[in-house]
Amino acid sequence: MKQLLVILTIMCVMFTGLISCKKPEDVAVEVLYTSGKKDETLEHAMKNASRDLRRLSRSIENRDWVETEMWTKELKEGIGYSCVELYMKEHRGVSSEFVIMGSRFFDAVRNLTSLCKEHNSENIDAEFNRLLTTCDDCHEIYKEEEDLPFTLRDDL
Ligand code: HEC
Repeated sequence: MKQLLVILTIMCVMFTGLISCKKPEDVAVEVLYTSGKKDETLEHAMKNASRDLRRLSRSIENRDWVETEMWTKELKEGIGYSCVELYMKEHRGVSSEFVIMGSRFFDAVRNLTSLCKEHNSENIDAEFNRLLTTCDDCHEIYKEEEDLPFTLRDDL
């Protein structure tokens, strides 16, 4: 009976220890990830990006500068700002290479925006292709199952 009491006490101590250990970690995570949408996942953000990309491709083809600017902005807001953050959240860390890949994508989006503002018909296709390359380059390293790369698709 006394033994049982001792075991129970130990268990109680361990349990409260566990709870109090867990708390600071939860708080840290809260603080780190308040900027993103709370339940957004990388997969979901990427799915939206793929949809935006299709729309962007069509509007560039039509030289519709208003639409082009709009979908470029959607892409930037969808994964440009948050792909690193979301990746980090899901993988408990991120390599500098991933960050570099992300910023190449971001640069391409930014260039596309300025070409669009200039109505630069001459260079916009090349810049769009560069953007596709940045999606593919990152996927080649960080995405597990391989679809047809965006640069080879003609169904965008
Ligand atoms: C910096 C890296 C990076 C860039 C840039 C990037 N992606 Fe991704 N993408 C990923 C990773 C990592 C995954 C795997 C996510 C997962 O399933 O958890 C992914 C997955 C995807 C998926 C599959 C989602 C699913 O259904 O599982 C699509 C579609 C996608 N990306 C579209 C795009 C498009 C379009 C672009 C460019 C406009 C792009 N991505 C740019 C890293 C990137």
